[in-house]
Amino acid sequence: MTILIDQPQFGVHEAQEKKVPIDEKELLLDGEFVMPNTNSFGHTFRDYDAESERQEGVENFYRMNHINQTYDFVRRMREEYGKLNRVEMSIWECCELLNDVVDESDPDLDEPQIEHLLQTAEAIRKDYPDEDWLHLTGLIHDLGKVLLHPSFGGLPQWAVVGDTFPVGCAFDESIVHHKYFKENADYNNPAYNTKYGVYSEGCGLNNVMMSWGHDDYMYLVAKENKTTLPSAALFIIRYHSFYTLHRSGAYKNLMNEEDVENLKWLQVFNKYDLYSKSKVRIDVEEVKPYYLSLIEKYFPAKLNW
Ligand SMILES: [Fe+2]
Ligand SMILES: [Fe+2]
Repeated sequence: MTILIDQPQFGVHEAQEKKVPIDEKELLLDGEFVMPNTNSFGHTFRDYDAESERQEGVENFYRMNHINQTYDFVRRMREEYGKLNRVEMSIWECCELLNDVVDESDPDLDEPQIEHLLQTAEAIRKDYPDEDWLHLTGLIHDLGKVLLHPSFGGLPQWAVVGDTFPVGCAFDESIVHHKYFKENADYNNPAYNTKYGVYSEGCGLNNVMMSWGHDDYMYLVAKENKTTLPSAALFIIRYHSFYTLHRSGAYKNLMNEEDVENLKWLQVFNKYDLYSKSKVRIDVEEVKPYYLSLIEKYFPAKLNW
């Protein structure tokens, strides 16, 4: 695998990212890789100016996200990235690639991102020693963030991170910064703006298109490369940023029985995803053999991305 590591293009948000911390409560976490150090920033810059600037950063992120994530946009992105014709690499190589992407984008980050991935995985492993599939899920759930990398098109942040939500039906009021959906082309489209839109009650989340980001992309990668991970793992990967479902219970009427079962595992997982920002240091070389064995168990040696 040969990939050039350039300074990634972070699109609309780049200028702000360097200095404006994103509140984890608002960006609901998954942003930990691309908008890191929220805690330390948060504690250092609590004066009025920084606070309002920060607010602007978050708002602008969601404004761009809510305006641009239309049914048609998602359809095109799934089609384009579903080709998986960009890079051939192993799961571990992708962990390392993500490391490079993030290190480049954040000079203040004080530990390699691979440690952060492993913190999630190791925390789960401690409490659920027998669920090896869940350990691996912890390691890989955010790998889709390579979409920020130039070799993946260097997508802007609003197309990679942040909360996800269904497109093709009405945007639920519980979605953060809901007001910006008024500028989304689907908002006034009668095909997409009713409670069920193009879907039907109990149709199953598998039939629902989610806003485009690292979650759905990593799901596509895992599925198309024929992972043997259980369906709960794929569910976690695909919906871990779907906070309006797992926090507010919105869109539950779209779920089928399998979704209900899988959601239980996602609730478990989320606690560790949140918690993984802790400063517990992980010795990468020490745990690497274990994770390589899991990768070998559940994935082919090389995957198409
Ligand atoms: Fe994530
Ligand atoms: Fe995460």
